[in-house]
Amino acid sequence: MLTARGPHCVADRKPENEEMRTRITGADIVLPRETARVDVVIEGDKIADIDPAPQTAVDETVDAAGLHLIPGVVDDQVHFREPGLTHKEDLLRATRACARGGVTTFLEMPNTSPTTTSQAALDAKLALASQKCVVNYGFYVGATPTNVADLREARRTPGIKIFIGSSTGDLLVDDQDALERIFAETTLPITAHCEDEATIRANRERIGPTADVRDHSRIRDHRAAVVATERAFDLARRHNHRFHLLHVSTADEVPLIREQITGDQRQLFTAEACLHHLLLNVDDYDRLGTLMQVNPSIKTAADNEGLWSGLLDGTLQVVATDHAPHTLEEKQQPYPQSPSGMPGVETSLAVMLDQAHQGRCTLQQVVHWMCDAPARTWDILHKGRIEVGRDADLVLVDLEQKRTVSNEDQHSKCGWSAWAGRELTGWPVRTWVMGQVAYQDGRVSEESLGQEAQFDHALGGFWVTQD
Ligand code: DOR
Repeated sequence: MLTARGPHCVADRKPENEEMRTRITGADIVLPRETARVDVVIEGDKIADIDPAPQTAVDETVDAAGLHLIPGVVDDQVHFREPGLTHKEDLLRATRACARGGVTTFLEMPNTSPTTTSQAALDAKLALASQKCVVNYGFYVGATPTNVADLREARRTPGIKIFIGSSTGDLLVDDQDALERIFAETTLPITAHCEDEATIRANRERIGPTADVRDHSRIRDHRAAVVATERAFDLARRHNHRFHLLHVSTADEVPLIREQITGDQRQLFTAEACLHHLLLNVDDYDRLGTLMQVNPSIKTAADNEGLWSGLLDGTLQVVATDHAPHTLEEKQQPYPQSPSGMPGVETSLAVMLDQAHQGRCTLQQVVHWMCDAPARTWDILHKGRIEVGRDADLVLVDLEQKRTVSNEDQHSKCGWSAWAGRELTGWPVRTWVMGQVAYQDGRVSEESLGQEAQFDHALGGFWVTQD
């Protein structure tokens, strides 16, 4: 079905074993340094040409007048629950949600069941993913207090995830000697969940038994985040180890990050903000209750402002979702039985396009934070930008389309969204994964179009490769 503003597509038949060539015409293309109304040609799974000669032969033309073409979103922090927790989410449902949302590559966290803490577990997840993922995939290897040998040897992974502070599951490395060994004896980039266990415990004791979810933000407070972040920075600096700080939740951490990224060892550090920490605050507990219970906890309106200014001035480089689905029944248990986490991949791009629509940032910034910066942070080959030779992971977005998020609409297995009821302006209307259409006109592919993301850590991370 074609909508008035939807991409119009004319296709010819193609002999087998020849690469299909598609011209996207009429859209404004968000290129690395400018936005230009030029045509883009996809050949097979690559971007073959930008601004091709008019007579360039193609098999198919997509008329995308009125739309913008951006690189596919790279979400570097998701929990897709397979294997082991598939009553909450699974790889097919999660990656269909990705395709719908314009996310073409994801990096997934190791707190599945079993945990991804060895090469065997990584290989098993990659094998599952190759059968099930509609979009491209990568999986972190998880740290435990005793698996440094596994972390040293791990391959086919963006890096090592440490929970310096417990969250869903039992992956936790709080012991200083174990942390020292991980930072000293491994070479893969490290990323961490930073909330200080001792501070959380002390706060919990001080507050006592509580069924008020607002206490979640008092137990996992500013100090818990700051203490753990300082600890991780200290480890990374002393061991000269590449480090990416996940889901920064407080304004207090922003100057700490700024010190690192302007210091002598700036090439070591990058940091990320999640949409819920940018856009929700403790005042929203009245409306959302345990649905917005997440770790690190949601903080205050002043923290929202601090995180936005950190993002806008380049202190924080990446915007991600921390897509962490739980069923509605699980979430609706009384606090503190209610688990922490909320879904995000299906709506993240639309939420940020809506922020651009509201004038809070530009489309180019959204593309930088969600596509280019995460690809460079994790040294992912051929992703993140619209350039000749890169993978044809592309999204057409309609910056004028208005739609209200609803729980019934979600492809994610958990079937709810903290953004339900919000009208957003700006939506993805078509997604290509490696040159194949993964989402169009309300229809999401079920094919395993995704491929394993390739990492080249010799590229040296975000700062070395920055323009
Ligand atoms: O809120 C969260 N939920 N934060 C995390 O770090 C983990 C996640 C989950 O896996 O549920």
